[in-house]
Amino acid sequence: MKRKGIILAGGEGTRLFPSSASTSKHLLPIYDKPMIYYSLSTLMLADIQEILIICNSMDLPIYKKLFTKTTNLGIKFLFAEQPKPIGIANALIIAENFISDNPCCLILGDNFFYGHNLSQTLKRISKSKNNSIIGYPVKNPSNFGVVEFDEKQKIIELVEKPVKPASRYAITGLYFFDNTVAQRAKLISESKRKEYEIVDVLKSYHKDKKLNLELMGRGDAWLDAGCHESLVDASLFVRSVEKRQGLKIGCPEEIAWRKKWISNEELLKISKKYSKSSYSSYLNSLPNNKIVGTI
Ligand code: DAU
Repeated sequence: MKRKGIILAGGEGTRLFPSSASTSKHLLPIYDKPMIYYSLSTLMLADIQEILIICNSMDLPIYKKLFTKTTNLGIKFLFAEQPKPIGIANALIIAENFISDNPCCLILGDNFFYGHNLSQTLKRISKSKNNSIIGYPVKNPSNFGVVEFDEKQKIIELVEKPVKPASRYAITGLYFFDNTVAQRAKLISESKRKEYEIVDVLKSYHKDKKLNLELMGRGDAWLDAGCHESLVDASLFVRSVEKRQGLKIGCPEEIAWRKKWISNEELLKISKKYSKSSYSSYLNSLPNNKIVGTI
């Protein structure tokens, strides 16, 4: 069974007001492209080609236009509405029919991943049958879901935004689940902050000894662009690396082309759509721009 992908791009983006007051926060730019391109790219790097985008009703037509009407990326896009932002776990119930009997991968639309071996790591986790979460060391764990684990990397405890974190490892917004996830999400109750918390879904797997922890290291970058500070940090990070290498981070068209999901002709057709932009010149240059390594 092929793993399916879910991008969660709903919510009100209140921490980014007024920038996100009249547009989906996931369409705000991280440097030179919309935020959602990065989460989409992460799913693509995990070899996922069937993707459900969940957003609020106001943004639905925009996402449909962005990802179906105009661009072929060798991906089947589907769309669903989350009427109210009542929690990340709620999205898994919305995705129940889409997931069906397949394993799935949920990514939060404001999460950004970058690293030397990221592509290989994602493919490995995606191929495996494990239900996996990814831990990443941060200075401010209290702002995230936190995972505590032993010396064998076995999970001890999972806590959402703990006041006194038991470890400095945040649970990133990228989750690999089997086909029981919607059933599990249905069984959890509302938290104190009146949300259906993803950490409670994780706890359900952990209770059944079915949750695996992967760790990202110091050479990797994980950012969540949910507030003004982190949005600028992510933009500057992308700008520095792209400027130095002349290679783009989070460019879905490039990934689709390198994975041979689209042909040279299809790539050039997309580039024409953005003509007169540096993004277009970049896509145009790819067939003649040899770099070493696979994707
Ligand atoms: O970024 C990782 C963290 O994301 C995890 O460590 C936490 O365990 C997890 O709860 C989550 O925490 P946040 O406080 O960052 O979640 P936030 O409410 O900001 O939502 C994350 C993304 O999901 C954001 O892009 C909006 C979207 N979202 C959120 C909710 C609650 C929805 O689309 N619908 C929702 O109902």
